[in-house]
Amino acid sequence: MLDSRLTLAIIGSGTMGEAIVRGLLRSGKLQPRQIFATDRRVDVANALRVAHDVRTGTNNEDACREAEVVLLAVKPHEVAAVVDNDVMRTLLAGKLVISIAAGVRLAQLAGWLPGASVIRAMPNTPCLIGEGMTVIARGPTVTDAQAAVAMEIFRAVGRCLEAEDKLMDAVTSLNGSGPAFAYVFLEAMCDGAVRMGLRRDAAMEIAAQMFQGAARMVLQTGEHPAALKDQVTTPAGCTIAGLLTMEDGRIRSVIARAVEEAAVVAGKLGQG
Ligand SMILES: NC(=O)c1ccc[n+]([C@@H]2O[C@H](COP(=O)([O-])OP(=O)(O)OC[C@H]3O[C@@H](n4cnc5c(N)ncnc54)[C@H](OP(=O)(O)O)[C@@H]3O)[C@@H](O)[C@H]2O)c1
Repeated sequence: MLDSRLTLAIIGSGTMGEAIVRGLLRSGKLQPRQIFATDRRVDVANALRVAHDVRTGTNNEDACREAEVVLLAVKPHEVAAVVDNDVMRTLLAGKLVISIAAGVRLAQLAGWLPGASVIRAMPNTPCLIGEGMTVIARGPTVTDAQAAVAMEIFRAVGRCLEAEDKLMDAVTSLNGSGPAFAYVFLEAMCDGAVRMGLRRDAAMEIAAQMFQGAARMVLQTGEHPAALKDQVTTPAGCTIAGLLTMEDGRIRSVIARAVEEAAVVAGKLGQG
């Protein structure tokens, strides 16, 4: 459980910043008075205050001064502009700073903020409905207690795991971009069903619940997807016919290469 005296600053109240505010409040892990969220646009900050009753503002320094933990939720190319200055270096010394910016490396964060304990995190958009996945990588000065605080924050909006920094570009692709890849797969399956006469809305409900069920089977049974696939595949049946058609289209290498390519691009995002 997070300390009831902890104040969390969230710098950047866009899609992910707001999702994390909402998740933390819904889970009861933080009270509204413990969150100080900023945005450079006053209307965005005001809307967040009205919606969630948290403290908001447009001055990042005010929020960082009050907080023990700071979450950076601005776009990757904006992180340096927020933290790479002497005022922030002083304000954040000794504090836990968590960046969710894709492609911004731990070494960069540590270089800008040598006195802070830095964590790089990669959440995804299902955090918006509390079904997210986040992977964190910790800098060398981060204590177990600080890593636990970061994991507790992200567990308010889904699951959270820890990985090495060198794997974070792959995680960015698999986890951050992954929902987009899954939506393409889901939409294509619906197209097939619509082609054969199903209504689009029915096809979407069936496909989305099917995806959710299949994913939960992997998480809950711990079984390899190939074993679960074999359970569905009756000899001489319809599933093996569909599977072989997919293999004819080189579906595995197309998907795996897409994950690889997105990781390559992710690695360049925060590099100036
Ligand atoms: N969306 C995803 O799927 C996803 C997944 C994983 C990680 N991420 C990471 O999460 C971060 C935020 O992404 P997002 O999708 O939430 O972006 P977003 O919706 O654009 O939110 C960023 C917010 O920060 C504001 N901002 C920019 N500069 C600021 C500053 N100096 N001080 C305070 N606020 C500032 C932006 O204002 P303006 O609109 O005026 O620029 C915007 O409201 C990114 O680094 C991204 O890599 C995103």
